[in-house]
Amino acid sequence: MNPFKFGDPVEGEYYLPRPELDKLVYGFLSNRIHVVLIGPRRFGKTSFVFNLLKKLEKEGYACPFVDIFNITSHRDFLQQMLRALKAKKSWTEAAKKWLSNWRPKISAEVDPISGQTSFGLSIDRGSEKDVKEMIQDLLAGLKNLGEKVVLVIDEFQKITDLDDQGWLEATLRTHMQQLRNSSFLFTGSRKSIISDMLNNSSRPLYRSCQSIDFPSFGDELIEWVIQRFSEVNITIEREAVFFLKKMVQDTPNYVQMVCFHLVAAGYKKIDSEDVQDVLKKVVRQNAYAYQTLLNSLSPLQQRVLRLAAKNGKQIFSKEFLNKYEIPSAPALSSSIKALKGKGILDEEGTGRGTVIFDDPLFALWLKESFDV
Ligand SMILES: Nc1ncnc2c1ncn2[C@@H]1O[C@H](COP(=O)(O)OP(=O)(O)O)[C@@H](O)[C@H]1O
Ligand SMILES: [Mg+2]
Repeated sequence: MNPFKFGDPVEGEYYLPRPELDKLVYGFLSNRIHVVLIGPRRFGKTSFVFNLLKKLEKEGYACPFVDIFNITSHRDFLQQMLRALKAKKSWTEAAKKWLSNWRPKISAEVDPISGQTSFGLSIDRGSEKDVKEMIQDLLAGLKNLGEKVVLVIDEFQKITDLDDQGWLEATLRTHMQQLRNSSFLFTGSRKSIISDMLNNSSRPLYRSCQSIDFPSFGDELIEWVIQRFSEVNITIEREAVFFLKKMVQDTPNYVQMVCFHLVAAGYKKIDSEDVQDVLKKVVRQNAYAYQTLLNSLSPLQQRVLRLAAKNGKQIFSKEFLNKYEIPSAPALSSSIKALKGKGILDEEGTGRGTVIFDDPLFALWLKESFDV
């Protein structure tokens, strides 16, 4: 059995607990303060939430978990809400009753052949107006789920892609204020988008939530990795784990991924060089995808990415602009903006000039593929 797992959210022995974050988030939610957890992709947000929900459920909270990563429309959002509500088997009787009676308010349709009126659950046929009403209905209906409810919306920034002039944001806000029994927990990976949602006074969710920067692991992850290896009689130098953690910018997913491959390849005593070798292989495995991504960008954007991969900080310096053939600072700004829009880069904090890659392996690949 390989003691490492990556890709999907992890639990049980594959999950290193985050007790302090548990306490912090629990403290807010139990006082009906809504929370947004913001952190890079693959940092363990979903795993963390699943783990926290287990505790909350033990304490009698009802916790629908709505994943909206792939939504493209209000209908998709509705679909995902319904799915979240139906996924749980443990609702109270009152909640079950509400759910089973829940009829989407689609105008009844008369079947042209049988002449019968049917209240099909088919959301497919609902108009946009119906869909919006149903979303409002479902949110309002959370009051039926019991005395304590935590509604999770994972990959929350997706609602900004919907192009509805803020309708869903405003609708959520209304229900966040009105529902006396519910706290909302959002997670998101696009820092700049979420900051704007929460800090821009003209937007509906302005100051509606406590935002928490999802912390990266410290040395506890190093110890944990060493421990996990030892369970299958493999030793790894502490230095090597440090090195790995640094190379993948603290991303637990990639720490586990590289460790997984180290185990699979049969290493018994691991040092930094072994880590380096395996990491290179992993990066190369993704070469095709990275190449495709790179080719979809303008030449200037490509050079900006090389600059960012190599340096990351203070990228607006004259020296860098020259070296990477970037005509001007505004040209750099607008490239970064475009790359942020594509979800390839994000800006750290509010400070101009520090960028991070959505995918640290992509940065490694760029560095390896280009000498400058
Ligand atoms: N607490 C943790 N302990 C160990 N590994 C973790 C932890 N959180 C995340 N990971 C690693 O990261 C991967 C991605 O986790 P996930 O929760 O899906 O991240 P996110 O939701 O932030 O994208 C997991 O498959 C696992 O390898
Ligand atoms: Mg996730």
